[in-house]
Amino acid sequence: MITRRSFLKACAAAPLVAALPSVAMATAVTPFPLTASKTKKRLVPGDGYQDASVWAFNRSVPGPELRFKKGETLSVDFLNQLDEGSSVHWHGIRNINAMDGVAGLTQPEVMTDGQFRYEFPLKDSGTYWYHSHAKTWSQVARGLYGPLIVEDETDPIVDQDIVLMIDDWLLADDGTIDEASFGSLHDWSHGGRLGNWLTVNGQSHPTIDVPKHARIRLRLINAANARIFGLNIPASAFLIAEDGYPTPVQPKQDVVLGPAQRADFIVDLGDTNLTINETLNGGPYPAVTLNVIETNQALVTKEILKQPRLESPPTSIDVVIPLHMQGGAMGNLREATFDGQLRPIRELVQNYGKAWAFNGKIGKHHDHLAKINIGQTVSIEVWNDTRWNHAMHLHGHHFWIQTEDGEFLDGKRDTYLFQRGEKANLVFIADNPGLWLFHCHMLEHHAAGMAGVIEIS
Ligand code: C2O
Ligand code: CU
Repeated sequence: MITRRSFLKACAAAPLVAALPSVAMATAVTPFPLTASKTKKRLVPGDGYQDASVWAFNRSVPGPELRFKKGETLSVDFLNQLDEGSSVHWHGIRNINAMDGVAGLTQPEVMTDGQFRYEFPLKDSGTYWYHSHAKTWSQVARGLYGPLIVEDETDPIVDQDIVLMIDDWLLADDGTIDEASFGSLHDWSHGGRLGNWLTVNGQSHPTIDVPKHARIRLRLINAANARIFGLNIPASAFLIAEDGYPTPVQPKQDVVLGPAQRADFIVDLGDTNLTINETLNGGPYPAVTLNVIETNQALVTKEILKQPRLESPPTSIDVVIPLHMQGGAMGNLREATFDGQLRPIRELVQNYGKAWAFNGKIGKHHDHLAKINIGQTVSIEVWNDTRWNHAMHLHGHHFWIQTEDGEFLDGKRDTYLFQRGEKANLVFIADNPGLWLFHCHMLEHHAAGMAGVIEIS
């Protein structure tokens, strides 16, 4: 059984190839077994700390790196060995609706000892991830997530391709998961479950060997429940993709990642070690160190990175979905409709654990925000009328972002981080039929009402 760490090390030491080999690549047709179960994991090293009881895919946090080539079919046999229902969502994939893995919406939850086969074509390349989509605020916080990478022939050629899956854990003093705070109404109505322990690929400040002067690709993934990370890469670094989608190539050393967001960088290393710091949360805290080593390996030629051809945003909109987001602590939401009845906010929080509303309604899976005809161009006109940031995620589609002044940001995303008070339009072409969840990826906010469904048929 290779651990994630030794896997990364083994790959670093192995002959250098454009990309890491992967377990799943060779088995695109034979389903890859993915089992959710409880296991132990040491999160805080050193004496006086204990192993944490985590929930994991294939007993590893993160779960196994699933790596495919664009056009291949993902086939995964999910087995649930937890003692509660679960499911797997493939975040950012423009999926077949029935394979989207949203328990209670696109499939019933997979019960204990139940199985479900996820099988779908991978139409888009990029950096994605998978995670539980049942009681996500608890299951993802306990470790049920992993990377999903789709390679493309046109990817820049690199000496090493490194996934960095970043999480913050809320731990008790002995290094175990803080259980008492799960479901805390304070977290649900404020900034979500914020941790006190930073891990990258399940390790505290890991070191990864890389060849001196190599060109590498870094795939950063924010797997935290609610934490917004700021990452600084003090090197010759170029941002090439956000949420898997290409972005105009630009030199960049800093990136902000809301929950569920990803960023891909090409980094040209020198001859000194490179420490990537987390800089947005009182630090800087060292997140990961790339340790440069001598190798006799021929390195790739550092070609000038090509600018991608980006799809231009639509010039007209068929359907507008107004989305007034309210609620949370210090907010202006006095009352909202929940289960068909208008109730004061105090009652909603105390009796139902609900604190957020879209257009005056507490969201649930079965609340439809809109019904859209297939092929229509849609603009979700979001007004974040709360005192909190929100990482709004649309399933099954990638969207353009149009800011309040009417301009479009470069590229497309599947998750956009709204600042408090911000207004922006999320514009997409409804070309994928089904019931698609739109929700805040601060998972406590989702659980406390920030969710709705867009039906496309
Ligand atoms: Cu990352 Cu609704 O999911
Ligand atoms: Cu939120």
